[in-house]
Amino acid sequence: MINTAHIGVSYKCNMNCQHCFVTRNQDDDVFYDHYAEIIDWLYQHGLSVLFYTYGEPLVTNKFYEVAQYVSGKRICQVLMTNGYEITDNAIIKKIKDVGIKQVYVSIDSIDAHKHDDNRRKKGAWTHAIKALELLAQSDIISGIACTITDRNCNEMCELYKLAQDLKINYISMLRCRIGGKLIKLHDYDCYSNSIKKLVSENQNSKVGIRVHDLSLIPMFKKMLNENQISNNEYKKFEAMCSCHQQYNINIAPNGDVYQCDFALTPVGNITLNTLNNIIDRCYISHCSCN
Ligand SMILES: C[S@@+](CC[C@H](N)C(=O)[O-])C[C@H]1O[C@@H](n2cnc3c(N)ncnc32)[C@H](O)[C@@H]1O
Repeated sequence: MINTAHIGVSYKCNMNCQHCFVTRNQDDDVFYDHYAEIIDWLYQHGLSVLFYTYGEPLVTNKFYEVAQYVSGKRICQVLMTNGYEITDNAIIKKIKDVGIKQVYVSIDSIDAHKHDDNRRKKGAWTHAIKALELLAQSDIISGIACTITDRNCNEMCELYKLAQDLKINYISMLRCRIGGKLIKLHDYDCYSNSIKKLVSENQNSKVGIRVHDLSLIPMFKKMLNENQISNNEYKKFEAMCSCHQQYNINIAPNGDVYQCDFALTPVGNITLNTLNNIIDRCYISHCSCN
């Protein structure tokens, strides 16, 4: 049973982020050449949420073509973007017209210069904020996607405030993974205390918090035991932080298939194996990225 999939329609990107896990200069068209059969297979196997990631989806019309194909099915389509191309309402309409229901725009820092520096692109921050403003005025569900490293783990409360000011729906705070493993945060306490503070102070806030980090579960358990969060909140965060790889599949633009977003080694390639074969041999019980 597959619940979520992360796919890449292309490696092409208009940025060159310092932390990016995606290896470029690979064959771009394998996924695209097979997209209809892959989407049909995923749908038959239960797919309900599809994330567009890898390069920058909005720099290629392939993304719109694939999304249009998916829009005929009962699948929630989620776009991950750096927002650079979302310059006006015409682009918002184009995204909506192909059935995208949620858009996450990456913001790496509250500081425009730090964000641009990390993204190695001048104006990246200004474009991303403009994209979020346009999204907030639309009926698309929107959020900030922040990749947490030592450079920004002291900014998490300010980033949350930014999401509130922008009147968007979510902030997703995902620790950076390199080579399939979580990178060590030298100030882990700053990271975990910020999450603790944000979760305990914003249980009724309009901006939802998304985290995915197994190491945080004991902290949430302690918060439950100390009555800082309700049982429902605890269950929500426990589920978010747990490994979902037995319900997830990732397919890169070159056709490589991975169980988890940041795994190093593919479990197969769609040109060499059928998806049935790949799924049969890919169940493992613990996710290497946690
Ligand atoms: C790979 S990008 C693709 C979509 C788009 N180009 C963007 O920047 O949002 C999707 C998300 O993955 C994050 N990301 C990239 N490399 C990562 C890594 N090594 N660990 C954790 N997140 C990462 C990015 O910061 C971004 O929020």
